Amino acid sequence: SSDNPIADIKLGFESIVGSKTDAVSVPQGYTAQVLAPWGQPITANGSQWQADGSNNAVDQDNAMGMHHDGLHFFPLNDSETDGLLCINHEYIDQNALHPNGSDKDENGIRSSVDQVRKEINAHGVAVVRVQLDDNGQWNVVDNDPLNRRYTGLTTMDISGPLANSAKLATPFSPDGSQARGTLNNCGNGYTPWGTYLTCEENWPGYFINTGETTEEQERIGIDTSGTTRYGWETLAGNAEEQNDEFTRFNVTPTGNSAAEDYRNEANGHGYIVEIDPYTANSRAVKRTALGRFRHEGCTFGKLEAGKPITFYSGHDSRFEYMYKFVSKEVWNEADANAQDRMAMGDKYMDQGTLYVAKFDADGVGSWLPLALDAMTKDGGTLADHFASLEDIILNTAGAADLVGATPMDRPEWCAVDPYTGTVYLTLTNNTKRDEAAGTNPANPRLNNKFGHVIRWDEGETATEFTWDIFVFGSDAAGDAQTNLSGLNEFNQFASPDGLAFDKRGIMWIQTDNGAEEVTNYTNDQMLAVIPVKLTDSDGNLETINSENQGELRRFFVGPNGCEVTGFTITPDYKTMFVSIQHPGNWPYSNDAAEATPAGMTVRPRASVVAIRKTDGGELGV
Ligand code: FEO
Ligand code: CA
Ligand code: CA
Ligand code: CA
Repeated sequence: SSDNPIADIKLGFESIVGSKTDAVSVPQGYTAQVLAPWGQPITANGSQWQADGSNNAVDQDNAMGMHHDGLHFFPLNDSETDGLLCINHEYIDQNALHPNGSDKDENGIRSSVDQVRKEINAHGVAVVRVQLDDNGQWNVVDNDPLNRRYTGLTTMDISGPLANSAKLATPFSPDGSQARGTLNNCGNGYTPWGTYLTCEENWPGYFINTGETTEEQERIGIDTSGTTRYGWETLAGNAEEQNDEFTRFNVTPTGNSAAEDYRNEANGHGYIVEIDPYTANSRAVKRTALGRFRHEGCTFGKLEAGKPITFYSGHDSRFEYMYKFVSKEVWNEADANAQDRMAMGDKYMDQGTLYVAKFDADGVGSWLPLALDAMTKDGGTLADHFASLEDIILNTAGAADLVGATPMDRPEWCAVDPYTGTVYLTLTNNTKRDEAAGTNPANPRLNNKFGHVIRWDEGETATEFTWDIFVFGSDAAGDAQTNLSGLNEFNQFASPDGLAFDKRGIMWIQTDNGAEEVTNYTNDQMLAVIPVKLTDSDGNLETINSENQGELRRFFVGPNGCEVTGFTITPDYKTMFVSIQHPGNWPYSNDAAEATPAGMTVRPRASVVAIRKTDGGELGV
């Protein structure tokens, strides 16, 4: 025992073997339970989930969405066994969502209003009350007044630099104060004042512009031909009930002004969105000061009273960047208990400075501010290219190009060590990093199919940091050039994605498919590690590094076809919730054959899994 709280914590489970079955695997002494799967109704207006896919759009608007991702547990009345789960629903599988897949014709044109509405309603966020019963089972509280959905259609407020911008003016919101819906909600975050953060990731694929494109549309990759990912915009003209809830996804300029068409509709997407889970009917707010890109997650740095709050968010796409936002206001600990939580978001997330990361060869890095007076690579300033901060935010990635940010191997989730404040970031993979693209010190592998985890410590000023690589993904059989971290059968992994610390100092790493050398051995998984250990006799901290991963242990393996993503743990550390996204044939195997889509043996349902110990004890230790 010592004064340092991490000295006493040790992983208390044996690393499990890989698995490739239609079930989840946990260590001996642990149990895992399905909770709140896709389609489970959460309000009185939804009907029971049907195994034949026949639930309609209204049912879906009142039920758990599809493809669960990031999630967070918010206790009610300080309880360990009663709280609200906020859960992201990233995207959909049309084959599983509908009785016979999508109605699109050979040209990709949609015809069913109900199908498209159901798809839009299957996206977004669910807030659902859950309770632990006397048998150790978690249950959704049916029709709880706090249960609700935010979907791809829900009206949301815009705050920060882009609030009331002419660039956000639409026929729906001529003053640019609101946007409709949140899409492709992947990673998540939460705030020190008790709100949920949901992150808009691959939203560009939902919009199309077949006319004159803007610079930021070209930079972010809005479609310019064909149809969008699900073809929602094609419904116009075919449907009896023509409605701009579908045409708005076509952002081609057609009128003389933004008030006449949907040219600005996509500009209301690409943000961190704040939700107050504790207030029914509260409106979600898009916090534009944190930048506009494919946000994976959003994680706040170690809090210090009297210092600004830092939020970290990666842009998950090949060769994209790592960002941080530093609040203008300094942290007041009393605000953790503020009654008006969204006012705290206004205070800490609407004004501040957005930075992008540049990693240098010597383990040193700099945060480059994205502001009008920021220096560009060519010796000018961003003011040479942008008229305002609004314009910089709108094209955050384009501004980051100009200042010389480091192109990364797909920044996914961040996690912050609660004791040291060290920030960890998963870089999931980048098989397009070829000789022409070249490597850089922070992304040192060509054809990086296994991914890695990098970490940094902030420096004395907001613009300095030091970094190193924590672990390289690999198969155990990889040669010395590949298996750089000495992984073995019990901790080999590829494509790190989800990442979280619990407050005891255990870091949890989740994977999203990846290299076949690993996927031939095991499905996607979750591993645990305590990156900082107190081991030497003088009480000095020893840090696990990229060459010493003996303590990295496999804790969980998901069912066939899935991705394991999202992490939250109750304050007593006795229940952990994770998401199982896009499973192949899970969780129920008793569906009637006639009720299953072509090529499937059951109608799969993404779900939360609640993990506990059979003796009810603390997890992981
Ligand atoms: Fe939706 Fe970057 O994972
Ligand atoms: Ca992810
Ligand atoms: Ca991923
Ligand atoms: Ca995913």
